[in-house]
Amino acid sequence: MTTTDTAAREEILGDVHQWLLREHGETVDPDRLHHVRAEIERIVREGVPGALVELGCFRGAMTLWIRVLLDTLGDDRPVHVFDSFQGLPDTTEEDEIVMPLGAMAAGMAEVEATFATWGRTPPLMCPGWFEDTLAEGLPESIAFGYLDGDLYTSTQVSLVECVPRLAPGGALILDDYADPEANPRTIVKFPGVKRACDEYFGVPSPVEALPGKGDLAYGRYVRPLR
Ligand SMILES: C[S@@+](CC[C@H](N)C(=O)[O-])C[C@H]1O[C@@H](n2cnc3c(N)ncnc32)[C@H](O)[C@@H]1O
Repeated sequence: MTTTDTAAREEILGDVHQWLLREHGETVDPDRLHHVRAEIERIVREGVPGALVELGCFRGAMTLWIRVLLDTLGDDRPVHVFDSFQGLPDTTEEDEIVMPLGAMAAGMAEVEATFATWGRTPPLMCPGWFEDTLAEGLPESIAFGYLDGDLYTSTQVSLVECVPRLAPGGALILDDYADPEANPRTIVKFPGVKRACDEYFGVPSPVEALPGKGDLAYGRYVRPLR
Protein backbone atom coordinates (compact mmCIF):
# COMPACT_ATOMS: atom_id res chain seq x y z
CA MET A 1 0.00 0.00 0.00
CA THR A 2 1.32 3.43 -0.88
CA THR A 3 0.11 6.67 0.68
CA THR A 4 -0.10 9.78 -1.49
CA ASP A 5 1.85 12.70 0.05
CA THR A 6 -0.22 15.48 1.59
CA ALA A 7 0.04 18.12 -1.16
CA ALA A 8 -0.57 15.60 -3.95
CA ARG A 9 -3.49 14.14 -2.00
CA GLU A 10 -5.14 17.55 -1.57
CA GLU A 11 -4.72 18.25 -5.26
CA ILE A 12 -6.37 14.97 -6.31
CA LEU A 13 -9.19 15.38 -3.78
CA GLY A 14 -9.74 18.99 -4.86
CA ASP A 15 -10.02 17.98 -8.52
CA VAL A 16 -12.44 15.12 -7.82
CA HIS A 17 -14.48 17.32 -5.43
CA GLN A 18 -14.93 19.98 -8.12
CA TRP A 19 -15.82 17.42 -10.76
CA LEU A 20 -18.39 15.71 -8.51
CA LEU A 21 -20.11 19.02 -7.75
CA ARG A 22 -20.21 19.84 -11.44
CA GLU A 23 -21.25 16.43 -12.82
CA HIS A 24 -23.15 14.83 -9.92
CA GLY A 25 -24.78 17.77 -8.17
CA GLU A 26 -28.10 15.92 -8.01
CA THR A 27 -26.77 13.64 -5.24
CA VAL A 28 -23.66 15.22 -3.71
CA ASP A 29 -22.87 18.64 -2.26
CA PRO A 30 -20.05 20.20 -0.20
CA ASP A 31 -21.64 19.25 3.15
CA ARG A 32 -22.00 15.60 2.15
CA LEU A 33 -18.49 15.37 0.71
CA HIS A 34 -17.08 17.00 3.86
CA HIS A 35 -18.75 14.60 6.30
CA VAL A 36 -17.92 11.47 4.30
CA ARG A 37 -14.30 12.60 4.04
CA ALA A 38 -14.10 13.11 7.80
CA GLU A 39 -15.60 9.68 8.46
CA ILE A 40 -13.40 7.75 6.03
CA GLU A 41 -10.29 9.51 7.34
CA ARG A 42 -11.25 8.65 10.92
CA ILE A 43 -11.90 5.01 10.06
CA VAL A 44 -8.52 4.64 8.34
CA ARG A 45 -6.68 6.59 11.10
CA GLU A 46 -8.24 4.52 13.88
CA GLY A 47 -7.77 1.26 11.98
CA VAL A 48 -11.46 0.29 12.16
CA PRO A 49 -11.62 -3.15 10.54
CA GLY A 50 -14.18 -4.27 7.98
CA ALA A 51 -15.53 -3.50 4.55
CA LEU A 52 -16.89 -0.27 3.08
CA VAL A 53 -20.38 -0.49 1.63
CA GLU A 54 -22.88 1.80 -0.05
CA LEU A 55 -26.55 0.85 -0.19
CA GLY A 56 -28.08 2.85 -3.02
CA CYS A 57 -25.20 4.03 -5.23
CA PHE A 58 -27.12 5.41 -8.26
CA ARG A 59 -24.43 6.67 -10.71
CA GLY A 60 -21.58 6.05 -8.27
CA ALA A 61 -20.78 9.64 -7.28
CA MET A 62 -20.31 9.04 -3.55
CA THR A 63 -18.76 5.66 -4.32
CA LEU A 64 -16.05 7.41 -6.32
CA TRP A 65 -15.42 9.86 -3.48
CA ILE A 66 -15.02 6.98 -1.01
CA ARG A 67 -12.67 5.16 -3.42
CA VAL A 68 -10.45 8.20 -3.99
CA LEU A 69 -10.33 8.97 -0.26
CA LEU A 70 -9.21 5.40 0.43
CA ASP A 71 -6.73 5.27 -2.46
CA THR A 72 -5.01 8.46 -1.39
CA LEU A 73 -4.67 7.10 2.14
CA GLY A 74 -3.11 3.89 0.82
CA ASP A 75 -6.10 1.77 1.84
CA ASP A 76 -6.96 -0.78 -0.83
CA ARG A 77 -10.07 -2.26 0.73
CA PRO A 78 -12.79 -2.74 -1.91
CA VAL A 79 -16.01 -0.77 -1.82
CA HIS A 80 -19.16 -2.91 -2.15
CA VAL A 81 -22.26 -1.30 -3.65
CA PHE A 82 -25.83 -2.55 -3.64
CA ASP A 83 -28.52 -1.15 -5.90
CA SER A 84 -31.47 -2.38 -7.93
CA PHE A 85 -29.92 -0.49 -10.87
CA GLN A 86 -33.61 -0.05 -11.80
CA GLY A 87 -34.33 2.86 -9.47
CA LEU A 88 -36.56 3.09 -6.41
CA PRO A 89 -39.12 0.47 -5.37
CA ASP A 90 -42.72 1.47 -4.60
CA THR A 91 -43.24 3.96 -1.80
CA THR A 92 -45.38 2.98 1.20
CA GLU A 93 -47.61 5.09 3.46
CA GLU A 94 -44.71 5.43 5.93
CA ASP A 95 -42.88 7.51 3.32
CA GLU A 96 -45.62 10.20 3.43
CA ILE A 97 -44.69 10.98 -0.17
CA VAL A 98 -45.21 9.22 -3.48
CA MET A 99 -42.28 8.63 -5.80
CA PRO A 100 -42.72 6.96 -9.16
CA LEU A 101 -41.53 3.35 -9.26
CA GLY A 102 -38.10 3.34 -10.93
CA ALA A 103 -37.19 6.96 -10.14
CA MET A 104 -33.41 7.53 -9.77
CA ALA A 105 -32.53 4.65 -12.09
CA ALA A 106 -28.96 4.26 -13.29
CA GLY A 107 -27.29 1.17 -14.72
CA MET A 108 -24.02 -0.47 -13.69
CA ALA A 109 -22.41 0.91 -16.85
CA GLU A 110 -22.91 4.43 -15.49
CA VAL A 111 -21.04 3.54 -12.31
CA GLU A 112 -18.26 2.02 -14.41
CA ALA A 113 -18.11 5.20 -16.51
CA THR A 114 -17.85 7.37 -13.38
CA PHE A 115 -14.85 5.33 -12.23
CA ALA A 116 -13.27 5.13 -15.69
CA THR A 117 -13.20 8.95 -15.88
CA TRP A 118 -10.77 8.92 -12.94
CA GLY A 119 -8.98 5.65 -13.74
CA ARG A 120 -10.11 4.07 -10.47
CA THR A 121 -10.93 0.45 -9.68
CA PRO A 122 -14.73 0.09 -9.86
CA PRO A 123 -16.65 -1.10 -6.81
CA LEU A 124 -17.91 -4.65 -6.34
CA MET A 125 -21.49 -4.32 -7.57
CA CYS A 126 -24.36 -6.41 -6.25
CA PRO A 127 -27.47 -5.77 -8.35
CA GLY A 128 -30.99 -6.43 -7.05
CA TRP A 129 -33.49 -5.28 -4.45
CA PHE A 130 -31.98 -4.85 -0.99
CA GLU A 131 -34.55 -7.29 0.38
CA ASP A 132 -33.05 -9.99 -1.90
CA THR A 133 -29.34 -9.14 -1.83
CA LEU A 134 -28.23 -7.72 1.52
CA ALA A 135 -28.62 -10.74 3.79
CA GLU A 136 -26.40 -12.92 1.59
CA GLY A 137 -24.31 -10.30 -0.15
CA LEU A 138 -23.10 -7.98 2.61
CA PRO A 139 -19.63 -8.61 4.00
CA GLU A 140 -19.54 -10.09 7.52
CA SER A 141 -17.86 -7.04 9.04
CA ILE A 142 -18.50 -3.43 8.05
CA ALA A 143 -16.30 -0.43 8.91
CA PHE A 144 -18.37 2.14 7.01
CA GLY A 145 -21.79 2.08 5.44
CA TYR A 146 -23.37 4.82 3.35
CA LEU A 147 -27.13 4.21 3.48
CA ASP A 148 -28.90 6.10 0.72
CA GLY A 149 -32.03 4.18 -0.29
CA ASP A 150 -34.32 7.23 0.16
CA LEU A 151 -37.37 5.26 1.32
CA TYR A 152 -38.75 3.77 4.54
CA THR A 153 -38.58 0.08 3.56
CA SER A 154 -35.15 0.50 1.95
CA THR A 155 -33.78 2.15 5.11
CA GLN A 156 -35.42 -0.42 7.36
CA VAL A 157 -33.81 -3.43 5.64
CA SER A 158 -30.49 -1.57 5.38
CA LEU A 159 -30.41 -1.04 9.15
CA VAL A 160 -31.50 -4.60 9.96
CA GLU A 161 -28.66 -6.00 7.85
CA CYS A 162 -25.89 -3.45 8.48
CA VAL A 163 -26.04 -2.54 12.17
CA PRO A 164 -25.29 -6.07 13.49
CA ARG A 165 -22.31 -6.28 11.08
CA LEU A 166 -20.76 -2.95 12.14
CA ALA A 167 -17.30 -3.28 13.64
CA PRO A 168 -16.69 -1.49 16.97
CA GLY A 169 -16.01 2.14 16.01
CA GLY A 170 -17.59 1.54 12.60
CA ALA A 171 -20.06 4.10 11.28
CA LEU A 172 -23.15 4.47 9.16
CA ILE A 173 -24.08 7.70 7.43
CA LEU A 174 -27.77 7.94 6.60
CA ASP A 175 -28.55 10.27 3.74
CA ASP A 176 -31.89 12.13 3.94
CA TYR A 177 -32.07 11.71 7.74
CA ALA A 178 -33.88 14.98 8.40
CA ASP A 179 -34.20 16.23 11.97
CA PRO A 180 -35.51 19.83 11.91
CA GLU A 181 -35.13 20.11 15.71
CA ALA A 182 -31.37 19.57 15.37
CA ASN A 183 -31.00 21.56 12.16
CA PRO A 184 -33.85 24.00 11.38
CA ARG A 185 -32.55 24.51 7.83
CA THR A 186 -32.81 20.82 6.98
CA ILE A 187 -35.21 19.84 4.20
CA VAL A 188 -37.56 16.96 5.04
CA LYS A 189 -37.62 15.35 1.61
CA PHE A 190 -37.85 11.68 2.64
CA PRO A 191 -39.55 11.43 6.08
CA GLY A 192 -39.46 7.62 5.90
CA VAL A 193 -35.69 7.58 6.51
CA LYS A 194 -35.84 9.07 10.04
CA ARG A 195 -39.00 7.12 10.80
CA ALA A 196 -37.21 3.84 10.00
CA CYS A 197 -34.23 4.92 12.15
CA ASP A 198 -36.42 5.91 15.11
CA GLU A 199 -38.26 2.60 14.93
CA TYR A 200 -35.05 0.60 14.67
CA PHE A 201 -33.01 2.39 17.34
CA GLY A 202 -35.81 3.71 19.56
CA VAL A 203 -36.08 7.25 20.91
CA PRO A 204 -33.95 8.96 22.19
CA SER A 205 -32.01 7.81 19.16
CA PRO A 206 -28.24 7.25 18.99
CA VAL A 207 -28.32 8.70 15.46
CA GLU A 208 -26.70 12.14 15.43
CA ALA A 209 -27.99 14.72 12.93
CA LEU A 210 -24.91 16.15 11.24
CA PRO A 211 -24.66 19.93 10.80
CA GLY A 212 -24.40 21.53 7.37
CA LYS A 213 -23.89 24.95 5.85
CA GLY A 214 -26.86 24.27 3.57
CA ASP A 215 -30.09 22.30 3.99
CA LEU A 216 -28.29 19.06 4.84
CA ALA A 217 -30.32 16.03 6.00
CA TYR A 218 -27.68 13.58 7.24
CA GLY A 219 -27.56 11.18 10.17
CA ARG A 220 -24.56 9.37 11.68
CA TYR A 221 -24.51 6.26 13.83
CA VAL A 222 -21.28 4.97 15.35
CA ARG A 223 -21.11 1.56 16.96
CA PRO A 224 -19.70 1.97 20.47
CA LEU A 225 -16.28 0.43 21.09
CA ARG A 226 -17.72 -1.79 23.85
C1 LIG B 1 -30.45 8.83 -4.07
S1 LIG B 1 -29.95 7.47 -5.03
C2 LIG B 1 -28.32 7.16 -4.37
C3 LIG B 1 -27.32 8.25 -4.61
C4 LIG B 1 -25.88 7.89 -4.34
N1 LIG B 1 -25.72 7.34 -3.00
C5 LIG B 1 -24.97 9.09 -4.48
O1 LIG B 1 -24.61 9.68 -3.44
O2 LIG B 1 -24.64 9.47 -5.60
C6 LIG B 1 -30.90 6.15 -4.36
C7 LIG B 1 -30.55 4.81 -4.98
O3 LIG B 1 -31.10 3.78 -4.12
C8 LIG B 1 -31.54 2.69 -4.90
N2 LIG B 1 -32.53 1.97 -4.09
C9 LIG B 1 -33.45 2.49 -3.23
N3 LIG B 1 -34.15 1.52 -2.61
C10 LIG B 1 -33.64 0.34 -3.06
C11 LIG B 1 -33.93 -1.03 -2.76
N4 LIG B 1 -34.90 -1.38 -1.90
N5 LIG B 1 -33.22 -1.97 -3.39
C12 LIG B 1 -32.25 -1.65 -4.29
N6 LIG B 1 -31.93 -0.37 -4.60
C13 LIG B 1 -32.61 0.62 -3.99
C14 LIG B 1 -32.08 3.34 -6.17
O4 LIG B 1 -32.03 2.46 -7.27
C15 LIG B 1 -31.14 4.55 -6.34
O5 LIG B 1 -30.09 4.26 -7.24
